[in-house]
Amino acid sequence: MRLKDKRILITGASSGIGAAAARLCATEGARLILTARRADRLQALAAEIAAAGGRALTLAGAVEDEAHQAYLADLALREFGGLDGAFNNAGMTGPAGPVTGLALADWQRVLEVNLTAGFLAAKHQIPLLLAAGGGSLLFTSSFVGHGIGLPGMAAYAAAKSGLIGLVQVLAAEHGAQGLRVNALLPGGTRTEMAGDDPGFHAWVAGIHALKRMAEPEEIARVALFLLSDEASFVTGAAIAADGGNTIFKG
Ligand SMILES: NC(=O)c1ccc[n+]([C@@H]2O[C@H](COP(=O)([O-])OP(=O)(O)OC[C@H]3O[C@@H](n4cnc5c(N)ncnc54)[C@H](OP(=O)(O)O)[C@@H]3O)[C@@H](O)[C@H]2O)c1
Repeated sequence: MRLKDKRILITGASSGIGAAAARLCATEGARLILTARRADRLQALAAEIAAAGGRALTLAGAVEDEAHQAYLADLALREFGGLDGAFNNAGMTGPAGPVTGLALADWQRVLEVNLTAGFLAAKHQIPLLLAAGGGSLLFTSSFVGHGIGLPGMAAYAAAKSGLIGLVQVLAAEHGAQGLRVNALLPGGTRTEMAGDDPGFHAWVAGIHALKRMAEPEEIARVALFLLSDEASFVTGAAIAADGGNTIFKG
């Protein structure tokens, strides 16, 4: 029970890494608030968690919508009396292609969902976390844009690497108040984002030292560690769970 009595908000909980993290955090004793846009997926997951003896509330919405971020914080306050941790994990890659062909609207959309949403989350979550004495604020970044220049992914790389800068400043701003802030950098992971093309999966596997992709649960276990008190001296860090793809040059 590594999250016993902790109140945790998870974004991007309708699939992939976020859903795996929700299941794991519930097993470890956390009370959860789950969000993403697909309400049916969230409700099914909350029902599954409840059937296993856990507690999860859901609120569907878009992470780049400030009003939704404010509602989420209000819900945590109203239903749980506050927040001890947040896993800001929602993200999207956007259209792939060279910068010379990238529409401004696509660039802005990718930054909005992956980076601006992180700012909005922090803005609304931090007051609750501080009121609870600190806690853990976690963002899902990526190996893309952090040691790896993957062609065709400029907006995604800029957004995900921007999150690391955000994390470093937030960790410095609030460390004295007991708040830990970190970025989690997954490697290629078998989720909806990675699609289901075996040829693409084989290529992705090949750029990792471990020669395979991660399962969402493998990334969720690292998120659990960073959300828990076991990571009590980890802050301002970009923690890779990337199967060695940033060091592999084979
Ligand atoms: N899979 C990988 O190889 C990989 C590698 C490195 C980093 N990551 C990062 O890991 C995180 C989780 O992705 P995943 O791999 O688990 O992919 P996924 O299964 O596609 O999950 C993405 C999640 O984000 C939610 N989401 C997307 N846009 C949203 C929006 N505008 N508002 C609210 N929720 C939104 C999706 O839910 P709805 O569609 O229901 O809104 C979904 O729950 C992302 O930040 C991604 O960038 C993934």
